[in-house]
Amino acid sequence: MADTQKSATLTIGDDSYDLPIHSPTAGPDVLDIRKLYGQAGVFTYDPGFTSTASCDSTITYIDGGQGVLLHRGYPIDQLAEKSHYLEVCYLLLYGVLPTAAQLEEFESTITLHTMLHEQMQNFFRGFRRDAHPMAIMVGVVGAMSAFYHDSTDISDEHQREIASHRLIAKMPTIAAWAYKYSIGQPFVYPRNDLDYASNFLRMCFAVPAEDYEVNPILSRAMDRIFTLHADHEQNASTSTVRLASSSGANPFACIAAGIACLWGPAHGGANQACLEMLKEIGSVDRIPEFIARAKDKDDPFRLMGFGHRVYKNFDPRATVMKQSADEVLELLGVENNPVLQVAKELEKQALEDPYFAEKKLFPNVDFYSGIILEAMGFPTSMFTPIFALSRTVGWISQWKEMIADPQNKIGRPRQLYLGETARDYVDIEKR
Ligand code: SDX
Repeated sequence: MADTQKSATLTIGDDSYDLPIHSPTAGPDVLDIRKLYGQAGVFTYDPGFTSTASCDSTITYIDGGQGVLLHRGYPIDQLAEKSHYLEVCYLLLYGVLPTAAQLEEFESTITLHTMLHEQMQNFFRGFRRDAHPMAIMVGVVGAMSAFYHDSTDISDEHQREIASHRLIAKMPTIAAWAYKYSIGQPFVYPRNDLDYASNFLRMCFAVPAEDYEVNPILSRAMDRIFTLHADHEQNASTSTVRLASSSGANPFACIAAGIACLWGPAHGGANQACLEMLKEIGSVDRIPEFIARAKDKDDPFRLMGFGHRVYKNFDPRATVMKQSADEVLELLGVENNPVLQVAKELEKQALEDPYFAEKKLFPNVDFYSGIILEAMGFPTSMFTPIFALSRTVGWISQWKEMIADPQNKIGRPRQLYLGETARDYVDIEKR
């Protein structure tokens, strides 16, 4: 628990109220206002939660000013370079790096959960072929609660564990099948002799008509993208999962809610929106026009992949992603990719512009990811499903932490009411 040696005094009129201050292991102190309404009869007001801590957590720490991201204390750049996604999943779920034996057992468990109940294929076939893969993922993941009844009782720790493993294991299959369905190709089943990232690439790009060999460069890049998106503190979709879970809803329904929230262009949908923006810009000579639009208060256009609620410095994930983009595109022989050239020049010009410097707007995780994913062969519609696949472990880890927290209670915010006060009904003939 946090250290609570300090307190703050709030004065309203002639009354004063002492509010405890909790000090964290890292980051800002928090002012505990849980008793404020009971004592003072006032609410706090914070639309968008810009100054509000919704919970305590030991999973991920972000220092937005320094551009630092730690998972259980380990810096994201070290994990991206030295670890791999399933090891990061273990770290996020259990709080420690696994021994070799623990990792082998965990990877085997995940591997043996990668198949979907055969009848679930009917859900995919109920969608139009041109359905966005995120629409399919929201539907199919929510429907998992109708197929895996033996892992929906959240009061049973064993069932919580199985649900966690099922979701992490099956998301690549669901995402890959959503893609295959959208292009009219047959579903490709997972294979137990492939690692997590290779399995996903094969399920996406293999066809029954010929053998498919996974390119180790692409599977390493894919795995790194999974790692970079795994968790990110109390972002909008994670907060959605926590709020949905606070009512006691089953884990599959809660993760489906997280997928729905991630889909928005201000959040996980930004990687698709960013690549579409870079293609709309088309060439470096049009960059000034778009930077001017991004600065114009009367123009709703924003630079997709730029800015962040927490990072007021470089998003450390964007730095790693940019390096990976250079490596992957060079190894694929597309280092002169015009979209990558536009992205690099746009970043350079934006960072030299006082508007972006004053507002501390830097590239975020979504700025370069789409360039790599497109080079790997994915359509833009698959970018956010890949983000959702990666973030499932973060949502699940935060969900497990919340369920196990004795302070856990249903989330129920209040409001600043600005509507009509009580008035009598008026019969229609008198209106
Ligand atoms: C993700 O929260 C997370 O951790 C999310 C995430 C994760 O891993 O879960 O990191 C993933 O969602 C990354 C962000 C992806 N979204 C985008 O790239 C979309 C473009 N970015 C913006 O929409 C915006 O920067 C947000 C939504 C990311 C953050 O918005 P905030 O924190 O609410 O900031 P704001 O809208 O109040 O902006 C502050 C100022 C505003 O100007 P003023 O009103 O002060 O004059 O900066 C401006 C904004 O107009 N601004 C931008 C801008 N982003 C902010 N201006 C131009 N282009 C931009 N991209």
